[in-house]
Amino acid sequence: MDTSICSIDGMEGILRYRGIEVEQLEQMPYDAVSYLLIYGKIPAPQELEAYSRKLREERYINREILNVLKVCNYGTEALDSLRTAVCCSAHMDEEKDDSSMEANMNKSIRLVAKFPTLVAAVHRYKTGKFLIAPDEKLSHGANFLYMLRGTVPSAIEAEAIEKDFILSAEHELNPSTFSLRITASTMADIYSAVITGLCTLKGPLHGGARKGVMDMLDEVASHENAEQYVLDKFSRKEKVMGFGHRVYKTCDPRAKLFKDIAKKLADDHGDTQWYDLAERLEQVMYREFMQNKGRPIYPNVDFYSAVVYKYLEIPPELATSVFAAGRVSGWVSHYFEQYSHNRVIRPRANYI
Ligand SMILES: CC(C)(COP(=O)(O)OP(=O)(O)OC[C@H]1O[C@@H](n2cnc3c(N)ncnc32)[C@H](O)[C@@H]1OP(=O)(O)O)[C@@H](O)C(=O)NCCC(=O)NCCS
Repeated sequence: MDTSICSIDGMEGILRYRGIEVEQLEQMPYDAVSYLLIYGKIPAPQELEAYSRKLREERYINREILNVLKVCNYGTEALDSLRTAVCCSAHMDEEKDDSSMEANMNKSIRLVAKFPTLVAAVHRYKTGKFLIAPDEKLSHGANFLYMLRGTVPSAIEAEAIEKDFILSAEHELNPSTFSLRITASTMADIYSAVITGLCTLKGPLHGGARKGVMDMLDEVASHENAEQYVLDKFSRKEKVMGFGHRVYKTCDPRAKLFKDIAKKLADDHGDTQWYDLAERLEQVMYREFMQNKGRPIYPNVDFYSAVVYKYLEIPPELATSVFAAGRVSGWVSHYFEQYSHNRVIRPRANYI
């Protein structure tokens, strides 16, 4: 399948969105990266200002959607509640029956703008807290943390979540994006496609791995226990969450960037417990893989991002939904690319 959205060099560990390396992209605001993914070019200052303004205006959620979310939230996983909320947003979208390019673009802006608000609302309802309205003065990421936790984040925390959204935004034909493209190829609407992506993201071998890493960090608790934890996993032939990748045969470039963000947060918080533990797990995994399989294994995107979430006080059960809030820009970009050069995706099976 051809794409001009993203390229990965798995041997060299290079990831580019629209031809630009992630190391450069993470220096930009999320709004600019979202614009780049959707429109295919870096926005001029006026274009960025207009796009950012629209995103800020669209952060609000209709009261009826919030009422449904409140009711469905009990006893469900966060991602399932988010999925219901996105389904409701589809029903309530005033342009739901319009599949023109302009209407689809408006819907994609709504999706990008509202995902963080919905994720924050899921969490606030689940923990019995009152909702916090978006603050248009805050950036995309800072506003999310504000709605989630109720206090304006520090500059370092705001930078960390903004980078998290950027590094989570896009990754070529990963399972969720591929499934979204299949839905798009049937000429279904953009909400149906995004909901498909959201459902696929849920699995523990894909977006759910971030929660798996957070659970593991809680279980291991201290860097002193890391060695035994990995040895036990190896002896039971179980996988360690946050390691390995189908495409990268060297370190995932996002893992390196997340590691730097995690270090900065750890130093800023004056608490290196989670960072030290993660680094020890990385060392032991590398050593054991070399000894047992004669080749290295590296952390993937979910490993150090989970450490970042620990420092940002994002609970494990919300991790996949926060990932989705970043990924939605990539998803809608793939929807447009599929929709505009469409051929239905229909692979053949090998009958055995
Ligand atoms: C991501 C993943 C699904 C890639 O899978 P893959 O390319 O199909 O690789 P495989 O699952 O076939 O694994 C190849 C070998 O490496 C081992 N391996 C791969 N990831 C491992 C991990 N995280 N922990 C321990 N062993 C691992 C497998 O056991 C297998 O060993 P074998 O050859 O002795 O049977 C896999 O690495 C994984 O399950 N990782 C953990 C989940 C995760 O972090 N997912 C997020 C992905 S971004």
